[in-house]
Amino acid sequence: MTQQPDIRFNETSVEGSELAYLRESVESGHTSSSGPFSRRAGALLQQETGAQEVLLTTSCTAALELAAMMLDLHPGDTVIVPSFTFVTTALAFTRQGARVLFCDIEPRTLGLDPEHLATLLDDSVRAVVPVHYAGIAGDVDGLRQALAHRPDVAVIEDNAHGLFGRHRGEPLGSLGRFATLSFHETKNIVCGEGGALLVNETGDIDRVRVLYDKGTNRRAFFLGQVDKYSWKDTGSSFGLSDTLAAYLYAQLERAQEIQTKRRAVFERYERLVAPYAREWGLSLPVVPAGSEPAYHMFYLLLPDRSARDAVLAGMREQGVQPTFHYVPLHDSEGGRRFAARMTECPVTVDVSGRLLRLPFHNNLGEADAERVVATLVSSLSTHRASHLANRAGS
Ligand SMILES: Cc1ncc(COP(=O)(O)O)c(C=O)c1O
Repeated sequence: MTQQPDIRFNETSVEGSELAYLRESVESGHTSSSGPFSRRAGALLQQETGAQEVLLTTSCTAALELAAMMLDLHPGDTVIVPSFTFVTTALAFTRQGARVLFCDIEPRTLGLDPEHLATLLDDSVRAVVPVHYAGIAGDVDGLRQALAHRPDVAVIEDNAHGLFGRHRGEPLGSLGRFATLSFHETKNIVCGEGGALLVNETGDIDRVRVLYDKGTNRRAFFLGQVDKYSWKDTGSSFGLSDTLAAYLYAQLERAQEIQTKRRAVFERYERLVAPYAREWGLSLPVVPAGSEPAYHMFYLLLPDRSARDAVLAGMREQGVQPTFHYVPLHDSEGGRRFAARMTECPVTVDVSGRLLRLPFHNNLGEADAERVVATLVSSLSTHRASHLANRAGS
């Protein structure tokens, strides 16, 4: 039998004019930030999300840091973040001096649990950072209800997964004061490393431009609003190179095709896995009514951690590379150090131990998906047999 090539968790693909635009960018001489490709990419993102301003950044992490700087956080301030997220959803705020309060997720969408959130809201809270896990909107209505009496609390959507997703027709990324995007190589739209800050309130625009541009009013200078530029405020160097923006713009031009391909992968997995769900105790992603997913990933919840770990290993042995995801932050060394106080996040702990992400990329075809699901089922079967044998032997 010939050895089949591995099915990797992620593969990047050139979808349109990426290489031509890279060349054009380098030859144009404008390779630093805020150049012509950044403007074009920003305009497409603005069109999609309705943001008042789009600032391309070196990563989603950098965009979160810029949002955190805009809050002028002081000692004693807290920011509510999910425990089930990437480290920098929390880190961006703690490095600005805040402490974090870890909120649990609700088991349907794996987004912030509004009921737990309501118990955490005290006078110290300055912001809440929801994550739309896998690009599926969290419980946005519940979140709005929980925050209805707290207009002083900023909502900053960490929308690393959710560009092109919608909640009741509203684009993910348009629901709070700020939102952040990621164009890291594992995302739907990529440029290697990159991100964006979406600014949804006009009152923030002038200041955020200064913080974005190393604390200077350089942008106002280039817009002809002032006759020289100088140091004005805090800030850092957040801008994405225009050469990476060129790659990004080519991807954004092909967004519809990319989303169509990813939707097909998601639906293929749904169709292939569903017949096994009951027998093997698998939960598939839930897309609530009124929610349009961004088709960022396809995950499964297995019955328990030992099944998940066995299946991870079993599939990898057969040349298929699924992966797990976030390790609970509230229980991590950094999380304990930077939390305002300890909180309980039992759903996060449970989901983190049972979640398996299947290989997912633009060009994962029917035969690949069939092989992924076949290795999943055979690994489950092997695990069950060894479990039964252990029970019989004990
Ligand atoms: C929810 C979430 N937020 C933020 C990030 C960080 O993104 P970046 O690598 O662009 O900084 C990630 C990374 O995957 C993520 O999953």
